[in-house]
Order: sequence, then structure tokens, then C-alpha cells
Amino acid sequence: MTSLFQPYRLADLHLPNRVVMAPMTRVRAAEGGLATPSMAAYYAQRATAGLIVSEGVQPSLVGQSNPGTPGLYTDEQVASWKPVTEAVHANGGRVFAQIMHGGRVSHPETTGTQPVGPSAVAAVGDVFTPSGPRPAPVPRALEEAEVPEQAESYARAARRAVAAGFDGVELHGANGYLISQFLSDNANLRTDSYGGSVANRIRFAVEATAATADAVGPERTGIRLSPGAGFWGVEETGVREMYTALLAELARIGIAYVHLEATADEELLLELRRAWPTTLIMNPVLPMGPKQVGRTEADRWLGLGADLISFGRAFIANPDLVERLRTGLPIAPVDEATYYQGGDRGYLTYPAYQYSA
Ligand SMILES: Cc1cc2nc3c(=O)[nH]c(=O)nc-3n(C[C@H](O)[C@H](O)[C@H](O)COP(=O)(O)O)c2cc1C
Repeated sequence: MTSLFQPYRLADLHLPNRVVMAPMTRVRAAEGGLATPSMAAYYAQRATAGLIVSEGVQPSLVGQSNPGTPGLYTDEQVASWKPVTEAVHANGGRVFAQIMHGGRVSHPETTGTQPVGPSAVAAVGDVFTPSGPRPAPVPRALEEAEVPEQAESYARAARRAVAAGFDGVELHGANGYLISQFLSDNANLRTDSYGGSVANRIRFAVEATAATADAVGPERTGIRLSPGAGFWGVEETGVREMYTALLAELARIGIAYVHLEATADEELLLELRRAWPTTLIMNPVLPMGPKQVGRTEADRWLGLGADLISFGRAFIANPDLVERLRTGLPIAPVDEATYYQGGDRGYLTYPAYQYSA
């Protein structure tokens, strides 16, 4: 049986194990969306992962979802990421940048500009702003002629990511952000070529992915998807048909991987596994669900055909997660209070397992 600790060839990269650090926003960037020395230390501490996927990184100011998140749209941002990717590489790791455009999940108080979306429909819930949670605003519906420019913004950020030393990029196509808004049929009410039919709703995801693969190579491009998840009020109908059609288009582009969140029923997830010809990363549990995933769920998904398994919260609290999984050491619980605040506390302060004599 495939083991989590067998090496894996991901496109051009050699991964020493099949453990992936899932993307996690930690809101510790400096003014101007700059990466910091603490971020370099945080990712370096976790470099034993087969692959790290960074926190969501905005490809533009209007794409920024939360205050305090990093970007990849200025030269200063590129320069600030270089020590991060160098620290990961110096510690033997590999790291992709997750490119996350928040679309309507954003706020003028955060970006100084009105959020954009497929349609003028607000997300459900409060978004974070510098002065606290605020109801999600109604976004400006993108004109049809503006949509390709937003798709291109992923490709531009990908070029900058590679210039900053990242091994590749993951488009954030999950969790109710811009790509996922286009896939939806209650956030996307468009009647042009980007809305309505399945072929139209997947068009933005496909164009953003194709532009990115063109910019940095399909072997450096992955995408994250959360079929049927419903985050931020995003609803999807025809989930099976839509994701099957989307995977067929992504396979034609030939990208390195699809990173699936287990947000649909298992039958559908297995169908999507069969439909996807190359690397599948599986994130086994419901995002933000109460349970931290461990070895048992990981082994089960490897048995069901996943190639790599991603772990989120367990990686926050266990920088040496790979070693703990390998040797059966206890997995430390995570402190939710420091997910998005606390500076280095709850960020750099989780120790590797302490053996006692
Ligand atoms: C603090 C925190 C921040 C997250 N930020 C992101 C993000 O930026 N992009 C993303 O795709 N998922 C994000 N997620 C979801 C995780 O990648 C993962 O799917 C989720 O935590 C479930 O996996 P787990 O049970 O292993 O933690 C975040 C989760 C947490 C806990």
C-alpha cells in the first residue's frame, strides 16, 4: 500500500514524502503586503513537508480579502518573499504560493477600493476589516471586457512568485473566493459568456489557469477546489457535471495538480479522482471542522487513490508534523485564538516534539 512516507514525483519536483502543508492565511504580513522574517522562520520550521502551499497571497490590491495578508503584485513584495523561499529551500523544502483573489469577500476599508465580483451580490457573513468585522459589501459586477484582466492577474502574480523563488503556484479556486464565485450560480448571475451554463461558469477558472500555465509552465501550476462547499454563501448547482467539465478542461491545460477539499460526498470525490489524470492532493476533512486530521484519514485517502495528503491546522501546531506522523508521536492541539493574531506567539512558538530523557 502507498505510504505517506514514500517519495513522490510532482511534475519536475522530487518530494521526499506525501505530506503537504495546506494553505493557511495567518495575517502576519507587514504594511504594503510584504513578507517578513517571521514568515521565513515559520515556513522554514515546516520545511520537512513534502510540499508547502503558502497562505493565500493577493494578486492585486482589489484581490485582497483580509487586512494583513501578503501580496505578489509589487517589486517590493517579490523582494520580501525571496528570504522566505530561500529559507524553505535552505532547510530542504519546496514551496508553492497560493494565489488568492478574494473577489466579493473583501471590503473598501481594507483595500481602499470597491470589491469586484461576477455580479452585484454580497457574500453572506461578515468580512474582516482593519476596524473589525463588517457585513460583506455589495461588489461591483465586472464588465465582460474586464474579466480577462482579472484572469491575467493570477498569471502576473505567478510570474512574480517564480521570480521570488517559489517552486510554483496554486490558484485558489475554492472556499467562496473569486474563482469559486464564478463557479456559483447565486454569486454569478451573469448572462454573458461567463455565466449561466456550466461551460460559461467554468470559463473564468479555465482562463485564469490557462494564463498562469502559459506564464510559468503547467508543471508549476496547481489549483485548489472545494466542490459544493457553500462558503461565504456561494451555492453551486450541478456540482458533478460542473467539476467533471472543469477537470476535463484543466487536464487539457496539463497542470501539475488538483488540490481537492473533501467538501462533497465521497462517491463524487472518487469520481473526480478517476476523472483527473495526474496528481491529486486530498485535504481529507471539512475546512474549519472540529477534527484535526491524522494518519488514519491520510492512509485511507491514499488507499482511495489520492497521491498526496494536505494537513492544515495540524501543521500550525506541529512544525515537525511529518516526523510525528512517521513515528506515531502525539499531535499537539492548535490554539485558534492565534490563527490570525498574536505576532510570533502561536506562530513561531510551537515546538518540535520534546523527547524527555
Ligand atoms: C487559520 C486558517 C487559515 C486558512 N487559510 C486558508 C487559505 O488562505 N487558503 C485556503 O485555501 N485554505 C485556507 N484554510 C483552509 C485549510 O487549508 C484547510 O483546508 C482546512 O483547515 C482543513 O484542513 P485541516 O483539517 O487539516 O486543518 C485555512 C484554515 C485555517 C485553519
